[in-house]
Amino acid sequence: MKPVKVGLLGLGTVGGGTVNVLKRNGKEIARRAGRGIEIAHACARELSKARICDTRGITLSVNAQEVVDNPEIEIVVELMGGTHLAREMILRAIQNGKHVVTANKALIAKHGNEIFAAATKRGVMVAFEAAVAGGIPIIKAIREGLSGNHIQWVAGIINGTSNFILTELRDDVLSSMGVAGSKKPGTAAGKDFATVLKEAQRLGYAEADPTFDIEGIDAGHKLTILASIAFGIPLQFDAMYTEGISKITRDDVAYAEELGYRIKLLGITKRLEQGIELRVHPTMIPARRLIANVDGVMNAVLVSGDAVGPTLYYGAGAGAEPTASAVVADLVDVVRALTSDPENRVPHLAFQADALSDVAILPISEVMTAYYLRLQALDKPGVLADVTRILADQQISIEAIIQKEPSPSMQSVSVIILTHQVKEQRMNEAIKRIEALQSIRAAVTRIRVESLGK
Ligand code: NAP
Ligand code: HSE
Repeated sequence: MKPVKVGLLGLGTVGGGTVNVLKRNGKEIARRAGRGIEIAHACARELSKARICDTRGITLSVNAQEVVDNPEIEIVVELMGGTHLAREMILRAIQNGKHVVTANKALIAKHGNEIFAAATKRGVMVAFEAAVAGGIPIIKAIREGLSGNHIQWVAGIINGTSNFILTELRDDVLSSMGVAGSKKPGTAAGKDFATVLKEAQRLGYAEADPTFDIEGIDAGHKLTILASIAFGIPLQFDAMYTEGISKITRDDVAYAEELGYRIKLLGITKRLEQGIELRVHPTMIPARRLIANVDGVMNAVLVSGDAVGPTLYYGAGAGAEPTASAVVADLVDVVRALTSDPENRVPHLAFQADALSDVAILPISEVMTAYYLRLQALDKPGVLADVTRILADQQISIEAIIQKEPSPSMQSVSVIILTHQVKEQRMNEAIKRIEALQSIRAAVTRIRVESLGK
């Protein structure tokens, strides 16, 4: 049988990685798929640019539409990124009767409902394993491996760039604290945020717009997809809460460490009676949890189902070949299914399209979590009493309270408070009142705390 001809939109980090993996493992992949898979036509903006892959034998264009309209192409792989041209080209490929593979989480989170409806109508597949958690086959695990479960919650480190930055920050903080066993003894000054981000960009981890990584938007796109396939709800990126890592300070990393926690950017989605939580934010997790020890660009996703209990999936969350691993796995799936019944494929969002639920996404004000608070307070009698009275008024119960020694140059002291679980609305009210106290010298820092125990 002749190889399947594939059109590739984008020859950057993931596109280049995909060409390399298909070339290197071509024979093995053909044994799995039942046919060879050949990149026949590809596009990029600048054809003269140096590439990480060998493009000899591939027809090259600068115009994506030439690839999508090429009658020889059966599958279009979209690896350009962005949501305008990518959406247009994917919808066009679908109209042309071509199957689609994409790693574009922004596109799926924002336009997936429209794209899947168009694909179902035209009887073609849209596969997107690489859109979430890079090389970890988490879509397949949830959509197929856990399909017997009532899934209760999903929590994950799903942005490699921010995990890379948080890991570097913690290593620097530990070495400046002189902690034995920290990875970089002697780097007391610490790398700044921008330097570490540049390194993540050089390694091909970051998005074209790195604020997507830093401000939790990329993790939000991925969590939107995970929630849909876990709970059988339409994609609803606009209803989710996102907060990134840009305000995390070295002090918070150090205090978290002292308290036995790690700070991670977590995506958390939970199914509750009153609705679905859908949120991305920096989170303090007990250091003894496996997921608290997932470092660098690695990702990990915890999925808890009623039958299976908690399960954990770990692997590289970004980079050329880890992501290409997922793209090529999707290609193999599509090629295998080319000869099978198109009506009976795994549904895009795991549940049959006419069986999706309209359960509401809860606003962040309704979410219950524990909190870490850091206050900068004047070192004088009565301050702590004022703060604890405000917390008590909001029925917020305190688990621990620590006042740090003032540094000689500072007029104020850091006060660290760990609370029990409370509704976010109450915490917002308490923080507003605490910040209005004369003795509080700066905005209160708040980090949500999750035990991830059950
Ligand atoms: P990238 O390195 O910037 O590559 C993008 C490619 O698309 C480049 O080859 C670029 O051409 C081409 N391109 C962009 N606009 C185009 C246009 N208008 N016409 C033709 N070609 C165009 O990006 P990437 O990191 O590979 O990411 C690609 C997609 O995968 C994104 O959706 C991203 O979110 C997703 N993803 C990335 C990773 C990762 O680790 N990098 C992991 C998972 C998912 P030039 O090379 O000539 O500029
Ligand atoms: N920018 C993304 C990340 C790429 O850092 O996780 C993988 O989706």
